[in-house]
Amino acid sequence: MRLVFLGVPGVGKGTQAEMVSAKYGVPKISTGDLLRAAVAQQTSLGKEAKQYMDRGDLVPDKVVIGLVEEKIGTSECGKGFILDGFPRTVPQADSLAGLLVGKGLSLCRVIYFVITREEVINRLSGRRNCSRCPAVYHLEFVPSKKEGICDECGGELIQRSDDRKKTVESRLTVYEEQTFPLIEYYREKNLLAELDGSGSVGSVQGRLIALLSKS
Ligand code: AP5
Repeated sequence: MRLVFLGVPGVGKGTQAEMVSAKYGVPKISTGDLLRAAVAQQTSLGKEAKQYMDRGDLVPDKVVIGLVEEKIGTSECGKGFILDGFPRTVPQADSLAGLLVGKGLSLCRVIYFVITREEVINRLSGRRNCSRCPAVYHLEFVPSKKEGICDECGGELIQRSDDRKKTVESRLTVYEEQTFPLIEYYREKNLLAELDGSGSVGSVQGRLIALLSKS
């Protein structure tokens, strides 16, 4: 199972990738999570990436391609992987294809999640992340049992700095300009499967599992 989850920021890729990863036992590789971990650890890569992320811009291709290459090369990815938030530019997609060809592999599917702009804004503005573990919540749609506290580890729930209104607008513009062309890119390669990402987490999951079972 070698999948790419594609879609506008806040569409729910990470939430669904987490579930598919648990169900099928294949790792989720989220470039956003890897970059945020590097920022938190204040590595030199993290310090460089933070400037781009705070503006809502994409981190340079060579940085993220290096991160993914490192992950895909590990034994953890022996049964496959779910790429969440990568590729995001045509050069990233070309590099991924080259990387896989070099290993005698190819992508199975690119799942393109679709929701309305209004839903995107609602999902991003209410998102809360655990400050200690990777758990993700939503104030209204996916609330924690105790307000402001993570169900998994008891950590404090915080708003991602790039989920503030102004940065969200930049991220959506960057998506339109740099990531949207990948839809046609993968459609031409017969890899694209469009998925309705609206409705509850459970209903999206049901549609996604049905789609993956058919593939
Ligand atoms: P990244 O972390 O990848 O952010 P993103 O693509 O902008 O995606 P999000 O994490 O915002 O959204 P998501 O689709 O995963 O939604 P989620 O499941 O959380 O990237 C962050 C930054 O890192 C980028 O801006 C860039 O700077 C850099 N970066 C990362 N990858 C890069 C790359 N390849 N190249 C260059 N730079 C890169 O859901 C959103 C909310 O909705 C949550 O609160 C969730 O609980 C809720 N929710 C989910 N599903 C539903 C549902 N069905 N109904 C109701 N609520 C729902």
